[in-house]
Amino acid sequence: MKSKPNQFRLRPGGALRGELTVPGDKSISHRAVMLAAFARGQSEIRNWLAAGDTEATLGAMRDLGANIERHDATTLSIEGGGLRQSASPLNLMNAGTGLRLLAGIMAGQDFPSVLDGSAQLRRRPMKRITDPLGLMGADIESNGGRCPLHIRPAKLRGITYEMPIASAQVKSAILLAGLYGDAPTTVIQPGPARDHTERMLRALGAEIREDGVDGNTITVHPNANLSPLDITVPGDASSAAFLLVAALLTPNSDLLISGVNLNPTRAGLLDVLDEMGANIEVSNLAEQAGEPIGDIRVKTSALRGIEIGGEMVVRMIDEFPILMVAALQAEGETLVRDARELRVKETDRIAVMAAELRKLGAEIEERDDGFRIIGPQHLTGGQVDGHDDHRIAMSLTVAGLNAAEGAIVTDAACAGDSFPGFAETLMRCGANIITS
Ligand code: S3P
Repeated sequence: MKSKPNQFRLRPGGALRGELTVPGDKSISHRAVMLAAFARGQSEIRNWLAAGDTEATLGAMRDLGANIERHDATTLSIEGGGLRQSASPLNLMNAGTGLRLLAGIMAGQDFPSVLDGSAQLRRRPMKRITDPLGLMGADIESNGGRCPLHIRPAKLRGITYEMPIASAQVKSAILLAGLYGDAPTTVIQPGPARDHTERMLRALGAEIREDGVDGNTITVHPNANLSPLDITVPGDASSAAFLLVAALLTPNSDLLISGVNLNPTRAGLLDVLDEMGANIEVSNLAEQAGEPIGDIRVKTSALRGIEIGGEMVVRMIDEFPILMVAALQAEGETLVRDARELRVKETDRIAVMAAELRKLGAEIEERDDGFRIIGPQHLTGGQVDGHDDHRIAMSLTVAGLNAAEGAIVTDAACAGDSFPGFAETLMRCGANIITS
């Protein structure tokens, strides 16, 4: 669900100052509505992310007969249980998380379903979930490894599965299907992919255990009677990332972003920016919805280049488009390795970011599994395109605010897939943006 405006005109120089919050976490918001709809009893969800991707998941749950009461855009009560076959295919639009996690749950239901999405989602790989779900006995027919997925009722087995890639979506699809298995299911992840599903399942009374080195072996016991959820969703660290980098790069900036999720499986960018020399302070540490949260204060900083690879990549997988923008202004070399997964996100984020930033005058060396940037670089300006990928559109907006002659971002409405009011938030802090 996109709403206007679809074009941002950017001028450099507007210092970013003030205090603000960011919308609720996207990953947690997807999981909250799915699990609330399948739990027994009434769940309460506050600060839910009302954005394109999560509205698609909410719509799918409604099509499955979920009893959802919406008090306002971000406050929901959901009476769980009693779901039934949808009369039409479930349309998850651009939401990869929505489709892949829901596939895990639907594999264990006693009614069939069809999971589909936008042209963009239809291009994304699904074999990574249909393979392990198939090993569990799920009956899923894909379109050559892509969606639509036709899921028919099947008896699921508990399995032990070693994941070839560190993906929270794959891990979550298997764990959620594991709730409907005939025995415990174990997933072994190669690295610390975000653990919101595990945290939420535990809060809902599921028996779930993390073992092994760094807790990378996760076992869930069957449980089709989850208790209801009562949460206030923390602010999305991935949304805060755009504001952080914008403030770091714009002279005289000083921003305080409060109530941000600081889950260590998501907070890699903060560690990286710290190593790059960013002036960032975290305070008011607390726990909310079973997740660590805190306030982040950021001031304009001179950055230096950094090397990133291995497990850090997983801890900041959604932040590489905006890291590219920061790296262009950092002194020296920034080198990113082990990040091939970026090529199968909403877009090929290595290729698309490199191509669009070049239009603003940047020099970027694209690598198969990452990129290399030597900074600082002078960005001139120009017109760039969001490619229907929210994180591309928002990263290019920050780049444009940092280009000498300014920039225009077209196809910018997709920012609303995860960050409704993104441009307006920046404008309120002092950024020079005209939307149309
Ligand atoms: C997500 C997992 C990540 C991330 C995506 C959200 C999730 O995807 O990129 O934006 O909520 O589980 P992968 O599991 O494909 O790495």
